[in-house]
Amino acid sequence: MKNISVIGAGTMGNGIAHVFAQKGFSVCLIDTSAAQLEKAMKTIATNLDRQIARNLLTEEDKKGVLQRIRTVGAVAEGVSAADLVVEAATENTEIKLNIFRQLDEVAPRGCILASNTSSISISTIAAVTKRPSAVIGLHFMNPVPVMKLIEIINGYATDADVTRQMVELAKKLDKVPCVVNDYPGFIANRILMPMINEAIYSLYEGVAGGSEIDTIMKLGMAHPMGPLQLADFIGLDVCLSILRVLHAGFGQPKYAPCPLLVNMVTAGYLGVKAGEGFYRYVAGSKEFVVSQRFTPAER
Ligand SMILES: NC(=O)c1ccc[n+]([C@@H]2O[C@H](COP(=O)([O-])OP(=O)(O)OC[C@H]3O[C@@H](n4cnc5c(N)ncnc54)[C@H](O)[C@@H]3O)[C@@H](O)[C@H]2O)c1
Repeated sequence: MKNISVIGAGTMGNGIAHVFAQKGFSVCLIDTSAAQLEKAMKTIATNLDRQIARNLLTEEDKKGVLQRIRTVGAVAEGVSAADLVVEAATENTEIKLNIFRQLDEVAPRGCILASNTSSISISTIAAVTKRPSAVIGLHFMNPVPVMKLIEIINGYATDADVTRQMVELAKKLDKVPCVVNDYPGFIANRILMPMINEAIYSLYEGVAGGSEIDTIMKLGMAHPMGPLQLADFIGLDVCLSILRVLHAGFGQPKYAPCPLLVNMVTAGYLGVKAGEGFYRYVAGSKEFVVSQRFTPAER
């Protein structure tokens, strides 16, 4: 496996392109937005500089990584020589199904088609192609160059040899693969999102303030980030949409999103990317403080 095409040059796509190119693969990074492609290459260069500053890479390595990434605007051109396509486009079912319909037409025979989706069923994505046995989930974690895990998701029809190849590939990237089956939320989000939702319910019901909830989970459970801070980092809109997938997929009330989360998303308080969620963030600064509404519970 030599040629990797990555569809979507957003938060995840630039990280996925970075790690493949760093391990010597030829990468074609594809996005419909030229501005996103330009921004992605800048982000990759900045992240490589960070690795150089930590003595993890040399200037020479950086040059090699950047040279191995080609940017392209059209899927057909970008996947024509691909051994593996990793789709990391916007988390929207219609967008992803359209991409996979097109990939089925234009990707070479024998090419493995992977999706980085957080919540959309791999079996549903595979079913729009005539090669469902070659479709698999490769769920990288954010930020991709730093996080060790790749959750590998077997669709209902995924061939065992395709899974085996992806496990080997993950190891080549110095990541740790964990293989799971295709049910709503897979494992990572099925367990993480109810925890985040419960933290939001605790805040909503006035059990404790935002800082107290996060501090309890950080110091009491040795989590590196509290659940509210993590929700802000992921994006509250993303959390809400994953909870809706869990709720619809299992039909159980325990997955129903907290009304406070729904309100915050409706009002545009989406977390870090919006400047405010459970915390307030100042652009260009690492400082953040609990949003005034979520200061300690009044008795
Ligand atoms: N952000 C996270 O923390 C995270 C973590 C794990 C998995 N994911 C998953 O990764 C995927 C990408 O998420 P993201 O946060 O990088 O999104 P993003 O919004 O940052 O980037 C998505 C990119 O896809 C591009 N795009 C949309 N339609 C396209 C098309 N038809 N062809 C080519 N490019 C197209 C957009 O222009 C955009 O640049 C989603 O499926 C998401 O669920 C995200």
